[in-house]
Amino acid sequence: MTSVAVLISGRGTNMETIVKNCQAGKIPATVAFVGSSKKNAEGLKKAKNLGIPTVVLPYQEGVETAEKTLLEELKNHHVEWIILAGFMRILSPKVVRSYPNRIVNIHPSLLPSFPGVDAIRQAFEYGVKVTGVTVHLVDEEVDHGPILAQMPVRISPYDTLETLEEKIHRVEHYLYTEVLKDLFTNGQSATRMRRDV
Ligand code: GAR
Repeated sequence: MTSVAVLISGRGTNMETIVKNCQAGKIPATVAFVGSSKKNAEGLKKAKNLGIPTVVLPYQEGVETAEKTLLEELKNHHVEWIILAGFMRILSPKVVRSYPNRIVNIHPSLLPSFPGVDAIRQAFEYGVKVTGVTVHLVDEEVDHGPILAQMPVRISPYDTLETLEEKIHRVEHYLYTEVLKDLFTNGQSATRMRRDV
């Protein structure tokens, strides 16, 4: 079984879905721990309730200290893949190079459109008629790297920012599960997935 760590910064609904689907055997992976860049992230409570060890990464003491903690925990838990699920920190090249093509991220837009924070709002305010969700491998740039899967979400004239957020999150929970299931079932399938999707 592939050992993974899930990194969060906030609500942790993607993390919760991933943990539940791992525990239900739908994603063939074990979540070794959930790491948070914020000590009061709502998602930490969710992880604890699901029986998953949690780690607060001490970003208030600087990136270097936080990443040292992260790398130690990853090593101690023999983690093979890092899953970013609303992790609002940029991992330094040191971490990215320690897990080459082994870090996955989800972003709530059709990258390369609307990278960065508040992507759903950015798309809504821009007035695009179609936005969506991207799952990609992480490289050294922000919200960037080989795309594994994307799913479009239409913005109707009746959508508000809130209804669009709901639609996007529903798609995120579905898409992340499907991609991770494929990735860990087929092992080194990232390259194949890029061709198929
Ligand atoms: C998700 O919409 C995720 O795509 C986004 O943060 C949200 C976290 O929600 N990530 C990014 O914007 C990364 N640039 P959650 O904490 O409820 O899973």
